[in-house]
Amino acid sequence: MFKFLFRKDADVNNKIIEIDKNSLPKHVAIIMDGNGRWASEKRLPRIAGHREGMQTVKKVTRFASNLGIKVLTLYAFSTENWKRPKEEVDFLMKLPSDFLNSFLPELIEKNVKVKVIGNIHELPEHTLNALEEAVLKTEKNSGLILNFALNYGSRDEIKQAVQHISKQCLEGSLLVDNITEDLISKTLMTKNIPDPELVIRTSGELRISNFLLWQIAYSELIFSDVYWPEFNEVHFTDAIINYQNRTRRFGGI
Ligand code: FPP
Repeated sequence: MFKFLFRKDADVNNKIIEIDKNSLPKHVAIIMDGNGRWASEKRLPRIAGHREGMQTVKKVTRFASNLGIKVLTLYAFSTENWKRPKEEVDFLMKLPSDFLNSFLPELIEKNVKVKVIGNIHELPEHTLNALEEAVLKTEKNSGLILNFALNYGSRDEIKQAVQHISKQCLEGSLLVDNITEDLISKTLMTKNIPDPELVIRTSGELRISNFLLWQIAYSELIFSDVYWPEFNEVHFTDAIINYQNRTRRFGGI
């Protein structure tokens, strides 16, 4: 596992100059993990970890936008997360509106475009309303795409794509032989978004947890042992530099 050096007082500006701006990953996807453990270690309730995690979302969004990254996908709630205690789920469902109430003006000012993937119509009305307002108010923006995966599960996404394609075949509007990888990509919830070049998971867990399974076929994976609420610009910079030092072969030599 790649170990990040945690330099609390590191001057992020000195670090950023090590990034090659000409080979930035266009799309960075992050599994934001470790909120609960961060809180437990501080003898705080788990929701305090999620609240602090929301501040990290603001931090990494500003950072990605300033750096010129095109897409930042954040795994905020999986289709499996409904199994958590009701109090925690209720809190997580309030976070998008809390986040957008305080941050939407800055997102608009920074030309950020908000998108959401997942079964959003199963979200509580207040969550969905906040998200739809943000999507609408930023739809013409051309800067960073801030893509939230909410009530998202990759197997479920692939199942829905298979159902959609199968129906077209049964109706006769699509020949089985015309099913291509490109068609499958365009039938997923991430249509029009390039595959991520870089996936980061925080908290030391070495799993993908049903996240963008089709899309990450050739992504570089970085596992940080830092809990999400502690993840900062220096860690993000280290991840990008690490990515840039890798040789991507896509199955070639
Ligand atoms: C996983 O950590 C984290 C989540 C399931 C929720 C992530 C949500 C946020 C970071 C805030 C999202 C903010 C917005 C704006 C939508 P965990 O709770 O599983 O941590 P643990 O493994 O240590 O218990």
